[in-house]
Amino acid sequence: MTNKLSTDPYKGVRDFYPEDMWILKYMTEKIHTVVERFGYVEYTASILEPAELYRAKSGEEIVNDQTYTFTDRGNREVTLRPEMTPTVARMVAARKRELPFPLRWYSIPNLFRYEQPQRGRLREHYQLNVDVFGISGLSAEVEVIQVASGIMKAFGATDSDFSILINSRKLLSKLFETFNINSEQSYTISKLIDKKEKVTPEVFEEGITAIIGDKAKDFIALLSSPEKLMEHVGVDHESVKTIVNLIETFETLGIKNIEFTPTLMRGFDYYTDIVFEIFDTNKDNRRSLFGGGRYDNLLELFGGDSIPAVGFGMGDVTLRDFLESHKLLPPYVSETNVLLATIGPVDETAVTLLAQSLREKGITVATHFTAKKPADAIKTALKLEIPYMVFIGEDEIAKKQFTLKNLKTEETQTLSLEELVQKITS
Ligand code: HAM
Repeated sequence: MTNKLSTDPYKGVRDFYPEDMWILKYMTEKIHTVVERFGYVEYTASILEPAELYRAKSGEEIVNDQTYTFTDRGNREVTLRPEMTPTVARMVAARKRELPFPLRWYSIPNLFRYEQPQRGRLREHYQLNVDVFGISGLSAEVEVIQVASGIMKAFGATDSDFSILINSRKLLSKLFETFNINSEQSYTISKLIDKKEKVTPEVFEEGITAIIGDKAKDFIALLSSPEKLMEHVGVDHESVKTIVNLIETFETLGIKNIEFTPTLMRGFDYYTDIVFEIFDTNKDNRRSLFGGGRYDNLLELFGGDSIPAVGFGMGDVTLRDFLESHKLLPPYVSETNVLLATIGPVDETAVTLLAQSLREKGITVATHFTAKKPADAIKTALKLEIPYMVFIGEDEIAKKQFTLKNLKTEETQTLSLEELVQKITS
């Protein structure tokens, strides 16, 4: 005999059994509501993209190590999208003459990254993308961060459950300039800073020293002191004013869990100015829940003038971990109201007709024709967490009186169709 096939899913991806699907649906429905309240409209696209879309600006790590890329039968290089930003940039660029700006778009695509699977990081995830195009002023950053914070609040999170970290790539560029760091070195230093939390302070210092020599200590001290860094760059520098302005605006809006974090880099090369992330404050869950920023030059890749853009991505894996660890997930509630089970041999069409009448009244009904005993049907209903059962046999059909069982209270009643409807819907 040949080897049995494994029932495991492919490494790092998930099967969504109905209870998982219920949670995903709970999360996405809330997200739709919050995002649409800000005037964002939904779009989507195919999972497949030409590989070259990611080469220009996504960043070496994503392109070289993390994409699923293959050659199709027509010899084209194809990538399973690892992120949505290049796709949305492509779509907006394609119709930029007709589209009404400012454009507020959102999507919840499935994304694929070849990563080492671990808590909060998988090879496949769903990611909410919220992006606004056509606003060069700070109101765009304010709005998308408000959306991000609004999503967290809609799930019942409070300010102390999460922090909003912000940084400015322009401010860091100015810092690099004051240390005479050239553009090639800037790239390497940015990547080192991005990985700072993953290495020891000694290793980090070694890396910085290898590039800027004995000024490394001063440089690192500035990175760990936001105040001193702002003074060093100059309080009148545009980037410092932007950070101060953002923090003050959020104070006014009642969003106080925001922190200027000079070491927040974000992996993608396309960000041009403000970048931000939302972090869980729970120590066991130190993963970013949202990440985003301004990317004013990405649309240039498709020719013509660029369009200013700001947006973020938020993954379902980290969101679910967050909700579970903060006990913010509601208990599962079955979408099915009634399990309609037969007793003894019965005219199945009559049962189907009863199910149809109940459904016409807006009641969700599953049928069970094959239970040997009522107890077996009850077991099924309990497993499915269906709140009501209706039993139907030849007698019930003849008398038009049905047995309703409330599985929570265990109460049983004999009722007419109208009474059944009333009881179940009340
Ligand atoms: P990102 O930081 O790579 O940004 O991803 C955003 C969020 O997606 C992360 O904070 C995390 O919640 C989730 N995420 C990312 N990779 C994984 C993974 N392997 N497993 C589980 N969750 C993951 C972007 O992708 C940008 N394109 C976002 C953006 C939109 N920037 C502007 N607009």
